[in-house]
Amino acid sequence: MKQGVLGEPLPRIDGLAKVTGTARYAAEYPLDNCAEGVLVTSNITHGTVTRIDTEAALAMPGVIAVIDDKRLTTRAAQGTADEAPQQDPVTVCYWGQPIALVVAESFEQARDAAKRIVVEYDASPNLPLDPADVTPEEQEDDTVSQGDLAQAMKDAAHSVDVTITTKGHASAAMEPHAAIAEWDGERLTVHASLQMLNYNITELADALDLAEDKIRLIARYVGGGFGSKLGLSQDVVAASIASMKLNRPVRVVLSRQQVFQGIMRRSETTQRLRLAATAEGKLIGFGHEALVSNLPGEEFCEPVLQSSHFMYAGENRELKLNLARIHRMTAGSVRAPGEAVGMPALEAAMDMLAETSGIDPVQLRLMNIPDKDPESGLPFSSHKLAECLKQGAEAFGWDEGPRKPRQRREGEWWIGTGMASGARIHNTQESRARVTLSPDGTARVETDMTDIGTGTYTILAQMVAEMLGLDPASVLVDIGDTRHPRGPGSGGSWGAASIGSAAYLACQAIREELAQRLRVAEDALELCNGKAGDGRKLTDVLGGDSLSHEGHYKPAKEQEDYTAAGFGAFFAQVRVNHFTGETRVDRMLGAFGFGRVLNRRTARSQCLGGLTWSIGTALTEALEFDPRDGHLVNCDLAEYHVPVNRDVPDLDVLLIEERDAIASPIEAKGIGELGMCGGAAAISNAIYNACGARVLQYPVTPDSVLANLP
Ligand code: MOS
Repeated sequence: MKQGVLGEPLPRIDGLAKVTGTARYAAEYPLDNCAEGVLVTSNITHGTVTRIDTEAALAMPGVIAVIDDKRLTTRAAQGTADEAPQQDPVTVCYWGQPIALVVAESFEQARDAAKRIVVEYDASPNLPLDPADVTPEEQEDDTVSQGDLAQAMKDAAHSVDVTITTKGHASAAMEPHAAIAEWDGERLTVHASLQMLNYNITELADALDLAEDKIRLIARYVGGGFGSKLGLSQDVVAASIASMKLNRPVRVVLSRQQVFQGIMRRSETTQRLRLAATAEGKLIGFGHEALVSNLPGEEFCEPVLQSSHFMYAGENRELKLNLARIHRMTAGSVRAPGEAVGMPALEAAMDMLAETSGIDPVQLRLMNIPDKDPESGLPFSSHKLAECLKQGAEAFGWDEGPRKPRQRREGEWWIGTGMASGARIHNTQESRARVTLSPDGTARVETDMTDIGTGTYTILAQMVAEMLGLDPASVLVDIGDTRHPRGPGSGGSWGAASIGSAAYLACQAIREELAQRLRVAEDALELCNGKAGDGRKLTDVLGGDSLSHEGHYKPAKEQEDYTAAGFGAFFAQVRVNHFTGETRVDRMLGAFGFGRVLNRRTARSQCLGGLTWSIGTALTEALEFDPRDGHLVNCDLAEYHVPVNRDVPDLDVLLIEERDAIASPIEAKGIGELGMCGGAAAISNAIYNACGARVLQYPVTPDSVLANLP
């Protein structure tokens, strides 16, 4: 590649529109005659709907309709069960499930009327609400048994056998789920807040029994998703049905409570870690078992062990994932599904092994990095954990001296440090993007790919600018519209590497055609600001026409011959109050290796976001369910505590750049989620080092610290 725009820390090209409020989000499109819909949701956890009394609501001012179409009573965003529309009577299987939609002239009228709808239920009592109440199903896909772990635990000079729990999490995206649907009698246009339009359009077509080519989905800007917008959400289906019935545009915006109660959750987990090591600290046994939950019939199962399969050596291995069927709302993907909770538990256990073996935690990890995948035997596509550990320790000022808790106190505060490793699997998805080079020296890139705050707009502009020798400001990025070629959507950290590769291939095709016309070899083709290397203007070369190619990226077969992941190392310094058990993070550093860096600023931003999630996972984030009826108690941002400015100190990020030619044609791996895969353990390990409280649960709350102080 020629000019070096790719990788540069270009500010977000959509930044100005966002900070000036001119970037339009799903609910903000001004449509004439738009009616407002508010969902009525269940306030029981399991049963059937026997009657919906709409009379009072329909008599209220401004109310247009109460729609109790069965299709809007389906499950949540990522629900896979009950794909066929419900029949009478409607079954409720979680608190907060949509029952009906009230449509009125104004939002306030609709909300008021929704509260007057009387729903009668035949509630089924005594269904399991907690994983402890059920016999779990073993998830055979994830079971590994190699050698003899029990024997290795007996033979080990040092061992750890510990159970660690994590609470459920909410995605808590800033923008609630929202949609405006407009039916013109033949075609449906929906402005929605979704991550994967390519997949969502098929879901919507299925839900409405409408051909996909009659639907257009638009999501130009998405105010965060973190997994909660991977699947089609209830607002989209409800707005679409209402618009088709009423023949006018309908907007449905979920309330914050509805997002928490009805969209989906990250499962709570109970994890048992068994680590067996020689006197020198070499792992000979590795055990990781986890229990998670979901609703009956749902396929998703929090993949807690995903990176545990290859993180550390150890020839005797047992990994097992179990799923309990309970009546909490659908469990689905929340930022870094799997590693977000699996790595913090594993890395707390590794800290305990470091302590019991008297080996420095960084050294213990360094000596247990496997040279190939310890289960499959596959090589790693690239592996930067050692560099992350070493450079991270150096930059943080990690003290390799003997580690004992309670060595430093300032007034009421114990001060300590901790570290952890992290990993997040890498994968890519099939993607298409069209790039058009115009004779005026500008280019345009089109795909239905979304930008959920991650920087898609910017890296696509950089990719096209790099390949076609343009100023990034001359590249128009037109995304988030299903009229364009289908991209991979934003999810699982695959977005940038996948859509970036599609744009790269489109540009490559353009370059080849230009080279042919200029009679030079493609790799000798130089392009700069609308001119070829020999000074000829592209206008002349193109003869007044534009040149357009679609890039079609498909993950290569050879990717299957490698284990691919991003790796990182986390370091934290905390202070813990001796009297209240409160923890404050003083400083934190993450070092990450994830292939080629496409934009140092947006990549770093993703890492900062990950570190911030780590603080939430470590200290505050927890879904709390009422054990009597299973409803979610803390369903807003006042009660579900994500880190706020006051909780987030100076964060340092080291980008350990590498080129990974296996990972993707553009040599990049995923970065979005890696920053929170293990970071919480650096904090909980630092809490132990500070005050001596080893708390075997996340979040590490003040009361749990006090209860575990020596
Ligand atoms: Mo991600 S949890 O796949 O948005």
